[in-house]
Amino acid sequence: MSETMHADYLASIETIADRYGRNPDFLIPMMQDVQTAFGYLPRDALEGLADLLGIPPSQCFSVATFYKSFSLVPRGRHTITVCLGTVCYLKGGREIAETIERELEVKAGGTSRDGLFTYEPVNCLGACALAPVVVVDSEYYDHVKLRDLPRILKKYREADRKGQ
Ligand code: FES
Repeated sequence: MSETMHADYLASIETIADRYGRNPDFLIPMMQDVQTAFGYLPRDALEGLADLLGIPPSQCFSVATFYKSFSLVPRGRHTITVCLGTVCYLKGGREIAETIERELEVKAGGTSRDGLFTYEPVNCLGACALAPVVVVDSEYYDHVKLRDLPRILKKYREADRKGQ
């Protein structure tokens, strides 16, 4: 565990581990709680958790990299997903993805500097009839046109400003 780990930081990991009786069989739910607490899985937190559970840190890191729902890097408050499956791609998904990358100054998997959006292109969301599709968190936007993007982004920026 890092010597610089803050006491509060350690306390939250201990609280989480105690909730599950420090039983390594509950490693995944514990890691989900760590991710909820910090917004991602900080390296120090995983090392601290492994220490508390008496397991090698590599076990935590392999779980973190195996499951797509875990993130080892800070994520934005919103996830913006652009479908780049064949149908969406041909109906404007590529231009939408390029515009989002330019507007948010991110690459795939990256988070905007203001911490608001994490951008994730995907291959086919199974809603090809609605192409091109953009999803923000769990909200679907269908038949998206380039001109719709400023309105979509603004909605989340404003909600964030209002603390919603
Ligand atoms: S290609 Fe985008 S939903 Fe299928």
